[in-house]
Amino acid sequence: MMSPFTVAIDGPAAAGKGTISKAVAAHFDLAHLDTGLLYRAVGARMLQGEDPIAAAQNLVAGDLENTDLRTAAVAQAASKVAVIPEVRAALLDFQRAFARRSGGAVLDGRDIGTVICPQAEVKLFVTASAEVRAQRRLAELVANGFDTDFDTVLSDVKTRDDRDMTRADAPLRPAEDAVVIDTSELDVQAAIAAAIEAVSARKAT
Ligand code: DC
Repeated sequence: MMSPFTVAIDGPAAAGKGTISKAVAAHFDLAHLDTGLLYRAVGARMLQGEDPIAAAQNLVAGDLENTDLRTAAVAQAASKVAVIPEVRAALLDFQRAFARRSGGAVLDGRDIGTVICPQAEVKLFVTASAEVRAQRRLAELVANGFDTDFDTVLSDVKTRDDRDMTRADAPLRPAEDAVVIDTSELDVQAAIAAAIEAVSARKAT
């Protein structure tokens, strides 16, 4: 059997991980899992009054289709439940099984290269300045009809960065062997091209 080829893509909120992951998956014909959605689904269930650990243990595929998962409130709730070790443990097997699909997979999140798939063939760390990320997130929110402003979004981005980077269990940080892509000064096409080039380079070795 062909050994699974795993691409791990980590980075802070709104750095462009989602766009890059989808493009890399399409280019190399790999399955894609946005692991942030798992934490968002648990966060959404917590906002409805459920215990987050029980929610993580009982998560079903349908939870990922909840249309509210992209809201700012759910993003903050996701970052809060992500601090709880039992929540992370409950989501681990699903992510590892996905990573080992025979056709290969791209997983994007915060701890894919460091904890979930330390053996991944390719690790990318996609980042950008907090201001650039806030600007992009603001444009996305406004386009989707949300009424908000730059300072609110910047403060949300910084709060989430801080929580994601300082938690004890699986904090956000680049793996030692990750290729860092700073998208602060790159447009979407250039960022995608940089990621595809990094994957191609590792595939060829
Ligand atoms: O990537 P995102 O913005 O959808 O992630 C939402 C939150 O989920 C993020 O602030 C932290 C948490 N998360 C995590 O702890 N580990 C992951 N692999 C993915 C997301």
